[in-house]
Amino acid sequence: MQVIETIETFRTARSRYPRLGLVPTMGFLHEGHLSLVRRAKEECGAVAVSIFVNPTQFAANEDFSTYPRDMERDLSLLREIQADLVFTPTPATVYPPGHDTGVEVGTVTNVLEGVVRPGHFRGVATVVCKLFNIVQPTKAYFGQKDAQQCVVIAKMARDLDMPLEVVVCPTVREADGLAMSSRNSYLKPDERRAATVLRRALAAAEARFSVGERSGETLRQAMLETLATEPMGSVEYVSIADRRSLTELGQVPADGALASLAVRIGKTRLIDNVILGS
Ligand code: PAF
Repeated sequence: MQVIETIETFRTARSRYPRLGLVPTMGFLHEGHLSLVRRAKEECGAVAVSIFVNPTQFAANEDFSTYPRDMERDLSLLREIQADLVFTPTPATVYPPGHDTGVEVGTVTNVLEGVVRPGHFRGVATVVCKLFNIVQPTKAYFGQKDAQQCVVIAKMARDLDMPLEVVVCPTVREADGLAMSSRNSYLKPDERRAATVLRRALAAAEARFSVGERSGETLRQAMLETLATEPMGSVEYVSIADRRSLTELGQVPADGALASLAVRIGKTRLIDNVILGS
């Protein structure tokens, strides 16, 4: 496994691989990330992982400075599962002085996370576009846990004719259903217990959907009722939306819907989702 900091060295190393999967990450790796790396390696024969905590996707009031980091542990996990290339650029490499260009993806960035985190998806799309240009992957792998991010990146790749396939992989969960996330490390023990309410709220929507409920309002209400049972939770949004446009639905159509939510447990902001009717 080769660990590379600069774009020039990365490009030279990359040229050895006819097919290469890319797993972009912000590090502090967990089983969710590792499942993407394994799948990329399996499908492409070789895999590059980027580790870069991207400052431009964090607002001033967010957790950029405290975002968990452990490069040594990340590299040892990646060595174990035989990643081929690891790209670990510095902020000055990604954003050299004078960098002044960004990628704006359209209306899918103006809802859900985009409302609560203005500018977030411009930061994500810009860094992912740069990573695609540097790495030139055959396929790039993202977790369904960040459902809106997947929609935004797939749209960017399609709209800008990027020559790669965006692959969305299933959310990996802890035994009690909590979606794996680097931010789970912020949770104190009582908050960690409370955080299971996100999965339970999604399960409530799934249960209603499975017995024929198709009203978006009723499904959103089912999630809110479950979330209300957890006093440590503060709801930011619940959503039943079209899977591609992410617009809120009055009625769920035959091809299903994305049920998603964002909840604060103490100071930690958690998101999760399921696809209804998949
Ligand atoms: O999902 C993440 O970890 C980040 O948003 C990504 C895709 C690596 C871009 O910084």
